[in-house]
Amino acid sequence: MEGSDSAETETADTLMTTVSHHHFGDEMDEPAFSISIIENMKEDYGLFVWPCSVVLAEYVWQQRLRFSGAGVVEVLGAGTSLPGLVAVKVGADVTLTDDSSRLEVLDNMKRVLDLNKLECNFCFQVLGLTWGVWDASTFSLHPKFILGADVLYDASAFDDLFATVTFLLQCSPGSVFITTYHNRRKHFVCIMCSGHHLIEFLMVKWGLKCVKLLDAFSFMPSHKASGLSGNLQLAEIVLDSQRAEIPVLH
Ligand SMILES: C[S@@+](CC[C@H](N)C(=O)[O-])C[C@H]1O[C@@H](n2cnc3c(N)ncnc32)[C@H](O)[C@@H]1O
Repeated sequence: MEGSDSAETETADTLMTTVSHHHFGDEMDEPAFSISIIENMKEDYGLFVWPCSVVLAEYVWQQRLRFSGAGVVEVLGAGTSLPGLVAVKVGADVTLTDDSSRLEVLDNMKRVLDLNKLECNFCFQVLGLTWGVWDASTFSLHPKFILGADVLYDASAFDDLFATVTFLLQCSPGSVFITTYHNRRKHFVCIMCSGHHLIEFLMVKWGLKCVKLLDAFSFMPSHKASGLSGNLQLAEIVLDSQRAEIPVLH
């Protein structure tokens, strides 16, 4: 598996699944903790550890003092949930979410939580949350951090995703959306500038601004970076307080 530290393979009835192991710590030979993820061998949107997830998980580890004790970390399109599990491990109160209609993804999240023995002394929940859809449970979330790894991949879903992100940012003043982006185009494209005009347009439409933009390879440790390829970026996005009008959500 791309970016994983190790993996073992099992053949399920029809699907080839694997358990990949991801280590976190400042000492390579003595990790602070490891997380095991059940994923498909074949690339599958919610059942595969995408490179963006490896990058965001490492960022949460490196920035752990910000997350430790943080109210709620909300993870959108969490899939196999590696960044959210790191947030749980460093002491955040985490809600893992994915498309409500993808029960197999939500079930896999629960299996991954069991596998990692994240029980009573850790705070987490699994919730179906489809972008652009407002259920009662969505209104009770007040996340300090919203995490989203590789959630900007299908342009037809961007507007719904930004609507949900904006709603959650409005629910919790001072909150931030941290997302990792994989540019799958052949030429270099920066997530926030030249190139992805739809993202630029939606950032303005929803009254958002980027406050931090990093090339993933600028902070990934070399032993993890060597297992990754492509153009991977991380952005921190907040509500633009200079904007007089932010679209009203209904
Ligand atoms: C490319 S995968 C990334 C998964 C995971 N974050 C990772 O990086 O490994 C995109 C994820 O977004 C979820 N997703 C796609 N459309 C969605 C929607 N409309 N609402 C909620 N989740 C959605 C998919 O089910 C999938 O888990």
